[in-house]
Amino acid sequence: MTTLTSSIAVEKVTNSRIKEVNFANLEFGKNISDHMFVVDFSSGKWGAPAIIPFGDLKFSPAMLSIHYGQSVFEGMKAFRTSSGKINIFRPHKHLERFNRSLDRMCMPPVPQDLWLSGLKALIEIDKDWVPDVEGASLYIRPVMFATESRLGVKVSDQFKFIILTCPVGPYQAKPYRLKVENKFVRTAEGGTGFAKCAGNYGGAFYPTQIAKEEGFDQILWTDHKGHKYIDEVGMMNVMFVLNGKLVTPQLSTAILDGVTRDSILTIARDLGKFQVEERRVSIDEIEEGFVQGTLTEAFGTGTAAVVAPIAVIHINGKDYQIPDAGPTSFQQQAKTKLNNMRMEVEPDAFSWNYLVNV
Ligand SMILES: Cc1ncc(COP(=O)(O)O)c(C=O)c1O
Repeated sequence: MTTLTSSIAVEKVTNSRIKEVNFANLEFGKNISDHMFVVDFSSGKWGAPAIIPFGDLKFSPAMLSIHYGQSVFEGMKAFRTSSGKINIFRPHKHLERFNRSLDRMCMPPVPQDLWLSGLKALIEIDKDWVPDVEGASLYIRPVMFATESRLGVKVSDQFKFIILTCPVGPYQAKPYRLKVENKFVRTAEGGTGFAKCAGNYGGAFYPTQIAKEEGFDQILWTDHKGHKYIDEVGMMNVMFVLNGKLVTPQLSTAILDGVTRDSILTIARDLGKFQVEERRVSIDEIEEGFVQGTLTEAFGTGTAAVVAPIAVIHINGKDYQIPDAGPTSFQQQAKTKLNNMRMEVEPDAFSWNYLVNV
């Protein structure tokens, strides 16, 4: 196999913007790191990859992605570990999902070699942007979109793949108040819900805005056929401790295959504390769990928070409260374990860490 990235052309910034960043108070997505990785795909081939200063790019207003939505992204993180190394968490798993999303959107896959060498080179150059503050990390945003300039509805022949990064602080949101959605859908079985494509997010803005106006933080999405079964939460997957079991909706074409979901399920199975069930989860059984007192935990899982406690679920016009997740709760134990593994405090039992030389 030929190597695509034996050389990555590098153009460094003359003036780093890092002096402007307050690492003690990071606002998500505000401070994009000095450099970005860019590479074009055209006529069936990848072009020459480069790392250049982050900044504006020039595009045609007829570029296909802004008209027809061929745009796919990923979200992952790198951490400064206890031994001072930089660890990109599960980049292979993120690439698998990126390529599944690309395939669904008729876009070419990114080769592993290009993905890993681009990530490594970019993070080595912007290593000072990886926060050294407890709980903080470098958020990594790979994105690929159609760049062919043409107004006809068609699959683009040209794409741009970019990797951006930005330092992010510890996740501090208060426990969520969720609204069970029984009118709108995020996606449907057979649709694009399992793909991290831009349109899924744009389409969720409107119902989410309504839920926020009603006093909720996020939506608990339900199936498109009858709004009976749970899919996921806004930007997270969802898990419950119900009747002493860890229960989560099984993957389908309507649910994003969260990397954190997989990590938490793997840790749960390894701890052996609970039986783990990936299956259809109905709103009715969650409501019954509240009424009977058998629902003891509910939380979201995602790259941003690892686990985010849920405080309230609004079902059939009624707010059901969930007790606070204390330090002995499953969600807190799993979160600590995952953090310890990726910070090299505990052994990397599942080979999830990808350490970069800095
Ligand atoms: C719709 C959706 N579901 C679930 C997740 C959680 O996925 P992950 O754990 O890979 O961050 C995300 C975040 O990426 C998301 O956008």
